[in-house]
Amino acid sequence: MSSNEQKKNAALKAAGFIENGMKLGLGTGSTAEYFVQALGARVAEGLDIVGVPTSERTRAMAETRGIPLTNLDETPHLDITVDGADELDSKLRLIKGGGGALLREKIVATASDRMIVIADVSKVVGTLGAFPLPVEVIPFGSTATVQKMADVAKEHGCEGEIRLRADEFGEPFFTDSENFIFDCHFGSIPDPDGLAAALNRIAGVVDNGLFIGICSFAIVGTDKGTDIIGQ
Ligand code: A5P
Repeated sequence: MSSNEQKKNAALKAAGFIENGMKLGLGTGSTAEYFVQALGARVAEGLDIVGVPTSERTRAMAETRGIPLTNLDETPHLDITVDGADELDSKLRLIKGGGGALLREKIVATASDRMIVIADVSKVVGTLGAFPLPVEVIPFGSTATVQKMADVAKEHGCEGEIRLRADEFGEPFFTDSENFIFDCHFGSIPDPDGLAAALNRIAGVVDNGLFIGICSFAIVGTDKGTDIIGQ
């Protein structure tokens, strides 16, 4: 079975947790897109929900699926956010931001009572960090900011290349909030809690892709169906 089938299994299971009247955060990425598809099918059958997309890409997809949308200014408190992850460990700590949407994803997830992560089995790791950690950085003075990020990372046992993310034309990638993403190739992150807090204390860092204490439980798609972590 392919990882796409596993993603679909996880997304379908998550759609089963959604009830009439809920206000939802809609994640970003290929797994979240399967969830948006499944949710769209339930909306077509009469499910009454409203969603807040975590990216322009998800907004466009939700619109085509007929999902009613709002935003956090109109609806500041959500019931559940369903989103993917690039990595997750047994303590439900995540790396997110592979798709560049980590800031909106974190704002939406933390405005929700619960965050359900949906993922294929390849995303479950013993130690976070093989996937490069994305950090959203203000373009002004970014070289100075990155030097501070490297210093702070070293203090938390992490070393490796910190690379400006480029788009398909080789130009700097800009987030939906017009910031840069720097991908930190650390290989492993021995102290995710300490690193996440320290990175966010640097002026110029908007946020980092470590989601700590945010995920309520994870639905992991497998060849046989789904496993739940943390419920
Ligand atoms: C988007 O910025 C990311 O946080 C995604 O949620 C993450 O990259 C997972 O994406 P896939 O579901 O495509 O693997």
